[in-house]
Amino acid sequence: MHKVLLLVYRWQNYLFFLIHLQYFNIILIKKSVSILAIESSCDDTSAAVICDGNVLSNRIASQTEHQLYGGVVPELASRQHLIHIIPVIDAALKDAGININKVNAIAFTRGPGLLGSLIVGVSTAKSIALSLNVPLIEVHHMQAHVMAHFAGETKPDFPFLCLTVSGGHTQIVKVDDYNKMEILGSTLDDAAGEAFDKTGKMLGLEYPAGPIIDKLAKIGKPVYHFPEPQVKGLDFSFSGLKTSVLYFLQKEIALNPNFIQENLNDICCSVQSTIIRILMHKLIKASEITGIKNLGIAGGVSANSQLRQTLTETGIKKGWKTFIPSFEYCTDNAGMIGIAAYYKFLNKDFVGQDVTPLARMEF
Ligand code: KG4
Ligand code: ZN
Repeated sequence: MHKVLLLVYRWQNYLFFLIHLQYFNIILIKKSVSILAIESSCDDTSAAVICDGNVLSNRIASQTEHQLYGGVVPELASRQHLIHIIPVIDAALKDAGININKVNAIAFTRGPGLLGSLIVGVSTAKSIALSLNVPLIEVHHMQAHVMAHFAGETKPDFPFLCLTVSGGHTQIVKVDDYNKMEILGSTLDDAAGEAFDKTGKMLGLEYPAGPIIDKLAKIGKPVYHFPEPQVKGLDFSFSGLKTSVLYFLQKEIALNPNFIQENLNDICCSVQSTIIRILMHKLIKASEITGIKNLGIAGGVSANSQLRQTLTETGIKKGWKTFIPSFEYCTDNAGMIGIAAYYKFLNKDFVGQDVTPLARMEF
């Protein structure tokens, strides 16, 4: 009996002690952080819920309206964002099983991107943050593509080099920390995604042509040769490739009007192989210059199967550790915006209600 009383007394003291510690914030019973993230920089409307750096939901509404025009029509894109944004946010909250009142911050893409598209996401984020009285976190779209690497199980060690290849940008980024990145090289003209989309348009393919070329290239051979541009340092250029594909097609069609239809798979495979050769050449150079052997790819073009395979194979040959995001985090998505925002939240890196979207945004 005596022993039991002593035990109860000790437990009471222990609980009393814990309550005091928590009251004075001496121990932190870790509060989880939930972020609602919004992405609307181009033609995908996306919302995601991120809890303690883990993506709980990631909803994307893609716009098919642009297929007819061979590229994104800005006015159409912003109108579609307006239609999609609230249902997409509702769906993301529902998937995550979280009530909007439990969200601790609202994150959004501030730029770079199409101004009309960005305005929809930025205004929605500001309104929700104001009504909930929670902080706002601005995210750089291209930095978020890099941060997609932290959405999966295998996370890169710092420092690492990221080849970020999207529809509007092509960059080699040195990543020193979650919030510390530096651009070592970028495109002087077209982006790698544009090279896919514009050559696809010449071949009569729908927009975005990247995934279609990827599919057709699998059953083709790289029989046509296109020259690699001679650009100094770690910068890229893709406009020359576009022109040489155009002249090549004009010459061949003059000889055989059905040239494209009869050789589509081989043309796709040849163009894709050239784009990947240009990208990999610079990535290898960046690794040699910096001595960094942790290498990753990100952005829409990182969904390309040949690029993914080439990075893995080159990594094995060169003794690199390679990192490739899962498909859902390659093309535009709010999950990556939320991941980037989570590390900004930890630094209390918030913005005020006077924040405006930026079509061009520095790193
Ligand atoms: O990152 P993203 O979704 O949007 C931008 O921020 O621009 O990238 C879109 C680009 C488009 O140019 C599209 O053709 C390309 O990514 N893309 C691909 C593939 N999937 C998407 N390019 C080559 N192969 C793919 N599988
Ligand atoms: Zn993007």
